[in-house]
Amino acid sequence: MELRVKRAPRIDLEISVPGDKSISHRAVIIAALSNGVCTLRGFLPGDDCMHTVNAMRALGIKIEQPDATTLIVHGRKRLLTPPRKEINCGNSGTTMRLLAGLLAGQPFESRLVADAGLARRPMDRIIAPLSEMGANIVAEGPEQTPPLRIRGGPLRGIRYRPPVASAQVKGALLLAGLFAKGKTTVEESIPTRNHMEKMLSYFLVRTASHPNGSVTIFGDQVPESRDFEIPGDISSAAFWLVAAAAQRRGHLLIRDVGLNDTRTALLGVLLRMGAQVREAVEDVEQVEPRGVVEVTGAPLKGTVIQGKEIPRLIDELPILAVAGALAKGKTVIRQAGELRVKESDRIAAIAHNLQAMGAHVTEMKDGLEIHGPAPLHGARLPSFGDHRIAMAFAVAGLFADGETVVQEAECIRESYPGFETVLEEFTNPKRMQVSTPVIGSLTPEPAEEG
Ligand code: S3P
Repeated sequence: MELRVKRAPRIDLEISVPGDKSISHRAVIIAALSNGVCTLRGFLPGDDCMHTVNAMRALGIKIEQPDATTLIVHGRKRLLTPPRKEINCGNSGTTMRLLAGLLAGQPFESRLVADAGLARRPMDRIIAPLSEMGANIVAEGPEQTPPLRIRGGPLRGIRYRPPVASAQVKGALLLAGLFAKGKTTVEESIPTRNHMEKMLSYFLVRTASHPNGSVTIFGDQVPESRDFEIPGDISSAAFWLVAAAAQRRGHLLIRDVGLNDTRTALLGVLLRMGAQVREAVEDVEQVEPRGVVEVTGAPLKGTVIQGKEIPRLIDELPILAVAGALAKGKTVIRQAGELRVKESDRIAAIAHNLQAMGAHVTEMKDGLEIHGPAPLHGARLPSFGDHRIAMAFAVAGLFADGETVVQEAECIRESYPGFETVLEEFTNPKRMQVSTPVIGSLTPEPAEEG
């Protein structure tokens, strides 16, 4: 499928975005382990999360889906049954890594297979610590890549300091730790998104977060069944927030979006670049903060993105690179080598596509240097099979002369079903929408020290 985009007229819109991908994966897994029926609302029915749903079904969990965004998960008190065949994780790294953690402690063997894209991604980051816990995991692909054959068995808790900042690694170890003897501690040198620990404690599993940034889970506990409402995904909102921020006087309001501060670093960057950003947390009752974000656009200026900020906006870097190309001056993204092992080599993909649109960009080993503003021109652009590359360059097309064509854009379904409908609202707004102003302005903070 090709996505065709033209320059956007004045942006003045109010939208909402689909459920958070990271939270959707975790909610369905923990609900499945709980001691009863859990209703999950606001679930993201994208391909990635549906792979997790189908994997849990293959492990004997009944999951009903009365409508696209509602799941009724029948928890079986941690009892899983051996899958009849291999489990397909599609292109979802989160599915494969979290499941590896879960399956490492089960008394049966399973095999996790992947699409070509995921089959290239490294699994040593989970195999090493899970093996230390006593698991027997063999990566059948070259250089520790999928498929994974997991011979589950008794595990012992460990203390582990991951060499890469990864919430998937932390999540896998916490799930393994739930089935391990004793306690399991993950010590992160740079904090990553904390949805797994929040979700576990919401389901009344005892965990402890320490001031040094480490998190501990105590083994042998059964999550208590609860209903849960998943907020909108700030990483999906990011595409539209950048579009509004980069258009002088562009205006956008997004309701009901997750505002967990391990995920909102994008908002601080847009402020630094000169946009007006307001956020208001509206629901503090639920475990994950959610609320409204409002952005008003301005001529953007370049910035530096590095250090502790990187894990807090890792998925937003493709669209922030587009913002950099539209901003005046130099934008530098560094210490972001992880981008090379996402759904594509995102550093190479961003550099390729920005250059094809006429931007000045230099590729570095662990990031990018972008000199803007360049007048962008429409081009035929590959998606590299990467949903976030496809969406970032569809948004770049809103700022380009002529037509931009994003090729092989069907991958967008992995995280954002309905993206094209919102894109259509940006290019052909049906009506002027008057939005309610919100409270709680943010003030810019200096860039991270390297
Ligand atoms: C995710 C963690 C991040 C992120 C991915 C989702 C998660 O990956 O890029 O889209 O849900 O845990 P890493 O854990 O590899 O950094």
